[in-house]
Amino acid sequence: MRTTHVQIVMHSHVNNTNRLFGGRLMEWIDVTAASAARRHAAGEVTTATVDALEFIAPVYLNDLLILEAEVTWTGRTSIEVRVQTYSEALNGDQKLVNRAYLLFVAVDEEGKPKPVPPFIPNGIVQQKEWENALLRREYRLKLREECNQLAELQKEHGCRVRL
Ligand SMILES: CC(C)(COP(=O)(O)OP(=O)(O)OC[C@H]1O[C@@H](n2cnc3c(N)ncnc32)[C@H](O)[C@@H]1OP(=O)(O)O)[C@@H](O)C(=O)NCCC(=O)NCCS
Repeated sequence: MRTTHVQIVMHSHVNNTNRLFGGRLMEWIDVTAASAARRHAAGEVTTATVDALEFIAPVYLNDLLILEAEVTWTGRTSIEVRVQTYSEALNGDQKLVNRAYLLFVAVDEEGKPKPVPPFIPNGIVQQKEWENALLRREYRLKLREECNQLAELQKEHGCRVRL
């Protein structure tokens, strides 16, 4: 199932050169992706990681943006969502301006991870994306481990870090 969000870029969304703030687009991406993950989980989710977030082309004042989110992979309690953002010209031509993958975790009333229904890929494209998602997961878990090891080292050497 695809979850879509449509947004016109207004004055409050741009900097003084009329370009959209990256952080504003990230907020819309997070909300659209969370909506897709919530629909899949049929319950509350929380954002765990955002990666592969790529600003491909600039977005300007008065552009029409279309954000399309789809679930690409599920683990036991986690759900990966891809968001592709397009800008649409007045003649209807669309251009890809951003692509991002976000990982959500389904949570219970106490905020603890809870199992999600499996996502079953349908067709060769979804199957390929599922396989790519496994590579992203491996990379994320390795990165998390390395960041934790670094934090331990910082702690040992008196750097300001709390675990
Ligand atoms: C996300 C959160 C619920 C995970 O809790 P946790 O106790 O670390 O849970 P676990 O270690 O059991 O991980 C749960 C799942 O998330 C995945 N996960 C969590 N963090 C991950 C990371 N950095 N990279 C890859 N996977 C991650 C785990 O692999 C696991 O997936 P699986 O069940 O599908 O195999 C917890 O860290 C949290 O609440 N974080 C704050 C989230 C938040 O507030 N987000 C909003 C922005 S402020």
